[in-house]
Amino acid sequence: MANALAATNRSGGVPLENPYLPYPVRIEDIAIETEDRNLKTFKFVFIHPDDEGKFAYTPGQFGELSVAGKGEIPIGIASSPTEKGHVAFTVNRVGLVTTHLHNMKVGDVMGIRGPLGNWYPWEAMEGKNVVIVGGGFAFTTLRSSIVYMLHPENRPRFKDITVVYGARTPGMLLYKDELAAWEQRDDINMHITVDASNDPDWKYNVGFVPTITEKKITNSDDAIAIVCGPPIMIKFTQPVLEKLGFPPERIILSLEQRMKCGIGMCGRCNLGGKFVCKDGPVFSLAELKQLPPEY
Ligand SMILES: Cc1cc2nc3c(=O)[nH]c(=O)nc-3n(C[C@H](O)[C@H](O)[C@H](O)COP(=O)(O)OP(=O)(O)OC[C@H]3O[C@@H](n4cnc5c(N)ncnc54)[C@H](O)[C@@H]3O)c2cc1C
Ligand code: FES
Repeated sequence: MANALAATNRSGGVPLENPYLPYPVRIEDIAIETEDRNLKTFKFVFIHPDDEGKFAYTPGQFGELSVAGKGEIPIGIASSPTEKGHVAFTVNRVGLVTTHLHNMKVGDVMGIRGPLGNWYPWEAMEGKNVVIVGGGFAFTTLRSSIVYMLHPENRPRFKDITVVYGARTPGMLLYKDELAAWEQRDDINMHITVDASNDPDWKYNVGFVPTITEKKITNSDDAIAIVCGPPIMIKFTQPVLEKLGFPPERIILSLEQRMKCGIGMCGRCNLGGKFVCKDGPVFSLAELKQLPPEY
């Protein structure tokens, strides 16, 4: 398993013509995801239709969104390659570039560089049970993965798919309509949770993600777990998964290190001898245990 994971845990994607040159895109749609209005999903269409093919990506990868005159930011790709005609990113407003992006309108033009980084270990997950554990707005590339796995052409490639996804409150969950639709399906086991809820109509779990993971994930046999979330959630979920019997090679994490170039050139994102932008952002816990404990 370790070798299988290592073999798929590589940087890649379609070679970029000029890795510093963004593809021009137009904002096609903007959806406000959360009640605090700080998370928005942007759907982009490529201005030159050929560029969509050049931006061929795999779930788990990220892009650099560039806002003219303001800067570039790494953001995980939230759409799935099975969704044609656009690429989507969900962006939390935290600072300079994300605020400018949040102020942009449908029809505005900007740039996307990528796809960048490696991806979740799809070859190793084939024929296996898949457990997805997500928290807060780090659910973006997990949304991409779920849509990808549920596509009729891909669903037979995986055994059981189980998802634990949590946010602070019901209003802070991303992709609410899709979560409700996935809840109705019998080919995916959904365990949605919130830390707290005053909503009398809330019909899902209340409890922190690690607690719900411990309650709901009963079987680690033949399973690979993908975990994305805030550091505190990862810190408490990791031992739960290990206690449930997941070895470190079968616990997969995606890191959000500070980055600049995104292509292994500037040395901004290194973790020991690894560049998070190029060797990651996806690492198994076994790989991370070999690196300095900064993640
Ligand atoms: C691989 C990868 C995938 C990511 N995916 C997403 C995503 O899907 N959605 C999303 O909203 N964000 C994501 N991020 C984080 C995002 O890149 C930062 O929030 C963004 O760069 C902030 O830009 P800014 O100019 O608005 O903020 P700045 O003005 O540069 O900083 C504002 C605040 O954000 C903090 N910050 C800046 N960059 C990061 C970072 N990389 N990680 C954590 N804190 C940071 C700063 O310390 C500061 O407190 C991802 C980061 C990486 C590396
Ligand atoms: S961001 Fe430049 S080397 Fe990783």
